[in-house]
Amino acid sequence: MASLADRLASPSEAKWIVAHAIHIAPGTILSALDDPVSSTAVEAVRAMGERRMTGEPLQYVLGEWSFRRIDLRVDRRALVPRPETEQVVEVALGELGQPARGGDGSVPTPRVAADLGTGTGVIALSLAVEGPADLEIWGTDVSGDALQLAQANLSALTTSRPDLETRVRLRQGPWFEALPPDLAGRLGLVVSNPPYVSAAEWSGLDAEVRDHEPRLALVPGPTGLEALDALVDGAGQWLAPGGSLVLELAPHQAVTMAGRAESAGYVGVRVVADLAGRDRTLVARRPR
Ligand SMILES: C[S@@+](CC[C@H](N)C(=O)[O-])C[C@H]1O[C@@H](n2cnc3c(N)ncnc32)[C@H](O)[C@@H]1O
Repeated sequence: MASLADRLASPSEAKWIVAHAIHIAPGTILSALDDPVSSTAVEAVRAMGERRMTGEPLQYVLGEWSFRRIDLRVDRRALVPRPETEQVVEVALGELGQPARGGDGSVPTPRVAADLGTGTGVIALSLAVEGPADLEIWGTDVSGDALQLAQANLSALTTSRPDLETRVRLRQGPWFEALPPDLAGRLGLVVSNPPYVSAAEWSGLDAEVRDHEPRLALVPGPTGLEALDALVDGAGQWLAPGGSLVLELAPHQAVTMAGRAESAGYVGVRVVADLAGRDRTLVARRPR
């Protein structure tokens, strides 16, 4: 009988699945080779292997995934967090290091940020864990399913980080409409990894993505620019003077969106490339 590694055509994925079933880290699997394995674990490996073989993403099959410093529950209610988003968080943390100032030059206290289209909550929760200790962050999503998952991830983290319970707030609604009106003009940071795949590109995506991840998380409309435009257009009224807008986008959208941000009156507009040299993160500031 073929091994799981052969059936998946991936020794590393087989290792992840087995390690998950016996509750050890994948990197320590060699040291557990002689340990007895329960029938429950064998059944769990079989069930996960079957799901993976139908093309379901490994992360959904495992039900959890690591991102920067946090472990997240992941399932088909929200997008699987991607490595490129780790850099978006890095850039956002850098922007938070330069606090927005009020019109009178004062630093708003506490610092307030919004992660719009939070999905699993990955960006909001990473900023809360890694960012300034006084940061208050609002995570929003139009999807109630995604927000439930984000809430589960927040609740899991509060066991070790009880401060997150009051510092992270999750709200449902479309883009800025989900935020309380009194935050207008007070945000030091607006960050988002919005949907940015065009309807035509979506048809050509791998079945693993197209058939399993929410279309709402990937496709904002026919051109793929609809959500980026809404965020660039809307953020100016919500950011404090000097506050930053940080957006993930596809490399081929970078020039267009940088131009639109400049036309909309932002300053310090730049695009940050990822480690592979692909333009992935747009940064723009509201003038002071
Ligand atoms: C690309 S996913 C990003 C999820 C998560 N932030 C991440 O980086 O993994 C985009 C998210 O935007 C949400 N979304 C789509 N349209 C929206 C809208 N009009 N208003 C607010 N959120 C929206 C989706 O539900 C989805 O969770």
